[in-house]
Amino acid sequence: MKIMEMKYEGKAKKIFSTDVDDCSVMYFKDDATAFDGKKKGTIEEKGVFNNKIASEIFKYLEAGGIKTHFIERLSDREMAVKELEIIMVEVIVRNVAAGSFSKRMGIEEGTALKQTIVELSYKSDPLGDPMINDDYVFALGLATPEELTFMKEETLKVNKLMSDFFDARGIFLVDFKLEFGRHKGEILLGDEFTPDGCRLWDKKTGEKLDKDRFRRDLGNIEESYRDVMNRVLE
Ligand code: TMP
Ligand code: ASP
Repeated sequence: MKIMEMKYEGKAKKIFSTDVDDCSVMYFKDDATAFDGKKKGTIEEKGVFNNKIASEIFKYLEAGGIKTHFIERLSDREMAVKELEIIMVEVIVRNVAAGSFSKRMGIEEGTALKQTIVELSYKSDPLGDPMINDDYVFALGLATPEELTFMKEETLKVNKLMSDFFDARGIFLVDFKLEFGRHKGEILLGDEFTPDGCRLWDKKTGEKLDKDRFRRDLGNIEESYRDVMNRVLE
């Protein structure tokens, strides 16, 4: 397979087209940003860790009945994926209070919730991914009611699968963000599932093992990502 031109460069990944039909290459960078790109840095080897983590998780999710854009891991930093028309809605799940929810609601991080929260954001860097609701999605034509229902149902299935997966590895899945795309009349899970887009707390120590270490200058960032990778691959 030959890599052709770069189609898109995001904050943590690049997407290339290839000479194979319906196959793109996702390249994982070491770059990290937070607060809508206002904070920038690099996390050494993050691209390698995240590619391995995401590849393993996509395989696990596929085995659990979730259709994803994953084809195969090609190298340390490259993953072959199907070409998606990305839906500009981010689906976030919260299992306990943390992050922007804690800030917005004035509720301490780690506080239990009476039920799981599914939250939507408009995928727009310039606007800072504002929170939206179902009516915004339909009013703006971002997705149809059928598509959104499917995305929410898939997200809750992913929550069950990934909560069990991390629980078996001594990690509590606090919250995460998913992206979906259209592909040949179906909706597939896209993007990645890595410590860049979720919160992971060690069950024994409560230690944060995700991008909050970078956002909040907690140190040991590389070590935490490596720890997550080792546990994911175990
Ligand atoms: P939040 O608490 O900051 O709203 O984040 C909720 C979840 O979404 C958390 O697991 C981190 C993830 N996330 C992203 O993947 N990208 C983003 O731009 C933000 C703000 C959060
Ligand atoms: N990825 C987002 C940014 O670059 C925010 C975050 O993950 O905190 O700003």
